Amino acid sequence: MTRLAVVGATGAVGTTMLRLLRERNFPADEIVPFASERSAGKEVEGLTVRGLTPDADLSGFDIALFSAGSSTSREWAPRFVEQGAVVVDNSSCWRMEPDVPLVVSEVNPEAIASHRGIIANPNCTAMQALPVLKPIHDAVALERLVLSSYQSVSGTGAKAVAELQDQAHAILHEMDPPNPTIYPHRIAFNILPQVETFKDGDDYTTEERKVIAECRKILGMPDLRITATCVRVPVMNCHSESWNIETRSDLSPDDCRSLLAEAPGVVVVDEPGAGRYPLASEANGRDEVFVGRIRRDDSNERTLNMWIVGDNLRKGAATNTVQIAEVLVERGWVRSAAVRGAAPYQAEGTAIGAPA
Ligand SMILES: NC(=O)c1ccc[n+]([C@@H]2O[C@H](COP(=O)([O-])OP(=O)(O)OC[C@H]3O[C@@H](n4cnc5c(N)ncnc54)[C@H](OP(=O)(O)O)[C@@H]3O)[C@@H](O)[C@H]2O)c1
Repeated sequence: MTRLAVVGATGAVGTTMLRLLRERNFPADEIVPFASERSAGKEVEGLTVRGLTPDADLSGFDIALFSAGSSTSREWAPRFVEQGAVVVDNSSCWRMEPDVPLVVSEVNPEAIASHRGIIANPNCTAMQALPVLKPIHDAVALERLVLSSYQSVSGTGAKAVAELQDQAHAILHEMDPPNPTIYPHRIAFNILPQVETFKDGDDYTTEERKVIAECRKILGMPDLRITATCVRVPVMNCHSESWNIETRSDLSPDDCRSLLAEAPGVVVVDEPGAGRYPLASEANGRDEVFVGRIRRDDSNERTLNMWIVGDNLRKGAATNTVQIAEVLVERGWVRSAAVRGAAPYQAEGTAIGAPA
């Protein structure tokens, strides 16, 4: 009997996870949705939400899929682990902990085996690029990466989607748009060169730092030369990314297209003369990532430009989480380290990395 908890079940990622579990016939005997106390009793996907309160019963779960933000993960993921569940977490809370595997299902599924109770899902911007970057790396070795991203508002969650809708509605009806509450500036009919926040005088955003660090960790290349500019655009769903990719050996655009045509989870859409290239409107609701506009960067040797688009709520978050859960069930890796006698995570949220 497999029991699954979905924490953050009322949010943008959580509702997508619940839909996907059903679509993919996930072999669970019971799925229990959790959200904040505010949502207790609400219905999502035909299930009644439980509040994550101090008296919540966390016992008996095999897997807990988390998408409730970092502070909730920090506090609650170790408690689920202590009760025997394996946690797959969408927040950034655990991703860079050395003993937490950071997994893209097509790229490094073998890392799942080393889990000690918590497995992290990467940031959506890194996630959707890695099924493309990894086969290129395996074939000709990555030297340097330059990313410019065009990120949708659903990447910030359900309230950001409402903010764009409300502002756009007001402007189209010749009214003053409501003041922004989620973003630092109006997002409707605007473009913001800021995704997340600037910390401690850093002139890169936290999103840009995450993409850089997570690509290095997943590819196992701590010294990979990579830079990123992450931009928020008034698109409801699906992130679009321009990548400039320098490699150690040469790869022609044709060979790159052939290579990527074989890559799991990747679809090549590349007939620009016919107006065929990856589009957010076409990636919406899809689990694959789409790549096109593959061409040489004539200003630098052994360098390609390309355009990658993916549904940030699906492959960027929910799909990958469910794929990891599927591997856990298939391979029988659902009992957490706590149940095997180890206590690898402190309730305060710091992974201490040592078995008890
Ligand atoms: N959106 C994306 O494309 C994306 C991609 C990758 C990763 N992520 C990550 O996934 C997480 C969720 O993102 P989202 O976009 O789904 O956000 P969201 O739409 O704002 O949803 C947040 C969810 O967390 C729940 N929650 C908030 N505080 C809680 C608490 N104290 N206890 C229990 N549940 C609580 C909310 O419940 P209530 O409804 O009751 O408030 C809601 O279900 C974030 O860590 C985000 O960084 C998101």
